[in-house]
Amino acid sequence: MNTEDLGNSKILNLLFKPAGKLMGSRARRWLMNPMKTLQGAGIEPGQTVLEVGCGTGFFTIPAAELIGDQGCLVAMDALSDYTKRVSKKVQVAGLENISVIKRDALDTGLDAESIDKVLLFGVIPFPFLPLNRLLPEMHRILKTEGSLAVWLFPVSGWVPKSILKSGLFTYVRKRNGVYNYRRR
Ligand SMILES: C[S@@+](CC[C@H](N)C(=O)[O-])C[C@H]1O[C@@H](n2cnc3c(N)ncnc32)[C@H](O)[C@@H]1O
Repeated sequence: MNTEDLGNSKILNLLFKPAGKLMGSRARRWLMNPMKTLQGAGIEPGQTVLEVGCGTGFFTIPAAELIGDQGCLVAMDALSDYTKRVSKKVQVAGLENISVIKRDALDTGLDAESIDKVLLFGVIPFPFLPLNRLLPEMHRILKTEGSLAVWLFPVSGWVPKSILKSGLFTYVRKRNGVYNYRRR
């Protein structure tokens, strides 16, 4: 079974329910301001941004606010339960610059060089997102001047090293806990 099919699995969606509650909990909002962390990614109005593994949407609405009406946020997750929840939130917020997609981020289906910025926020390291497959796909869809922003949970020193070792991205800076890379 591939990740695409796994994302539809009732058992998996059920197993991930408690994680979804934690992701969107008040305690998390109290401990962490999603907007402040997003500001570390240097999102600019009008950009086309891909959010990999949007989960229940902790970063989604604030990211879309930073992008504004002229830009577009593609919020992607493999789990159908999560994408349904995010779609509802987007509808309630009345935002038209977000496209929620249920898809395996290892094979996004997005056009080559079509994205200004990729957000990997709280998604790596993750067993279904091996860096040796994820990074080439992110490199493919990013525009030549595009960039990658990574917020790590849990903080894992080997991840920034692996990103550099891939040879696909150049380290730019770390701001508000977010590692920023330029596409090579
Ligand atoms: C720890 S959660 C983080 C969610 C969100 N970014 C946040 O910080 O609240 C990781 C998310 O990545 C998603 N994910 C894992 N593997 C994926 C894949 N191959 N393609 C798309 N999404 C994936 C999971 O379904 C889950 O929603």
